[in-house]
Amino acid sequence: MYHLFNYEATLASSLRAQWQLDDVLRRDQELDFSRNLMPESLARTAELEQLNPFEQRILNQISAHQYLSIFGVVEEFILPFLLDHARPSFREDDWRIRAILNFAGEEAKHIHLFKRFHQAFVRGFPVECQVIGPSEAIGAEILKHDPLAVGLVILMIEWMTQQHYLGSIRDDHDLDPLFKSLMKHHWMEEAQHAKLDTLIVDALAERRSENEIQKAIDEYFEIGAFLDAGLQTQAGFNLDALERAVGRKLEDRDAILDQQHQAARWTYIGSGMVHERFKSTLETLSPRAAERIAEAAPLFA
Ligand SMILES: [Fe+2]
Ligand SMILES: [Fe+2]
Repeated sequence: MYHLFNYEATLASSLRAQWQLDDVLRRDQELDFSRNLMPESLARTAELEQLNPFEQRILNQISAHQYLSIFGVVEEFILPFLLDHARPSFREDDWRIRAILNFAGEEAKHIHLFKRFHQAFVRGFPVECQVIGPSEAIGAEILKHDPLAVGLVILMIEWMTQQHYLGSIRDDHDLDPLFKSLMKHHWMEEAQHAKLDTLIVDALAERRSENEIQKAIDEYFEIGAFLDAGLQTQAGFNLDALERAVGRKLEDRDAILDQQHQAARWTYIGSGMVHERFKSTLETLSPRAAERIAEAAPLFA
């Protein structure tokens, strides 16, 4: 198989792009709750006519809390997946093992970073926001699947962080600079991860028949449906937090719930599904796989 990326070059660019936690958020820094935290293209709260501008901003901030929590969950299953993938044939290629361990180390750092942002959020936000979980149980459920399916989900997540970063620049309606910096720094390292994960996916797909690849795509959809159900539950938790924060019950709750669930579908699934690089990896695996995922994508738009 022809490889667009290689371990040696990707390790070199990873090491150049690396940052420290304090470059993004020091322990003593506070988020600016007089501003939005999430790009509107992801949170989609400004279009909710049922809410006044103050309430829209509170829901935008709750959507940022969701972002920190969902990425916390996601990074926690990426890390063991990488460690499992590093172990076999670790003597074969010095560049490969260093690149994958560096990738794993960066994801461990991202878990740490998302936790640090989460602590800052909790310090500054007036009410408690509930999260789906526990993350160990979510991770265990996902990791039960075919490694090729898990690898594709991870690849999709890595490419989607580019969309998130671009969103934070494009529709910068008074966004908190620290949250923008989070998206920028995360993408800087994810851009390298996505290349490595492309190589991992290629290796996992090697010597598989078309039928076996389609089975992995079935499982990719199973993981997607599982994540989607979690996002729906989370949308409900978010509205509970909004009601507590603004001190009123939402009359139009079902409609707001559907709209916010759809926003989360785009943020955590759809924006990766339609990424050109993700689509081209699928295309090299199997044109049918690319077609199946393209057919499902409008549901997550
Ligand atoms: Fe990450
Ligand atoms: Fe990553």
